[in-house]
Amino acid sequence: MNATIRNQSLLIASLAVCIFTAGCGGNPLPEAGSADEKLFRSKCTTCHSWPHPKRHTAAEWDHYLKVMEGHMKKKNIAFTESEKETIRNYLHRNSR
Ligand code: HEC
Repeated sequence: MNATIRNQSLLIASLAVCIFTAGCGGNPLPEAGSADEKLFRSKCTTCHSWPHPKRHTAAEWDHYLKVMEGHMKKKNIAFTESEKETIRNYLHRNSR
């Protein structure tokens, strides 16, 4: 196998990872560009990259939002009731 073919195989392998998992940076979020999606993206990427809404069920999102609210309190990051409601509704609409 020469170097060119090896490089092409690597490229194809990494593209497959992008397509078959939600772990690719270019993977679009549902309702991209809407106010709700923007709020989700701005509030939920301070400590880690955004988790895709399809990763969890609505009930699981309720659990994670409570845990994340605790993390934000500890770090003094503002997270108002209305922001939480908006993000909760967004995640529920687009959950698994
Ligand atoms: C203040 C920092 C912080 C912010 C802001 C934050 N998180 Fe997290 N998140 C964490 C930490 C730390 C973990 C690691 C797991 C744990 O200790 O709970 C985590 C883990 C998670 C996980 C579990 C990871 C997995 O494998 O599925 C999810 C889901 C999640 N966060 C969702 C959110 C959402 C949704 C928001 C926005 C509302 C958010 N996070 C905002 C700190 C944060």
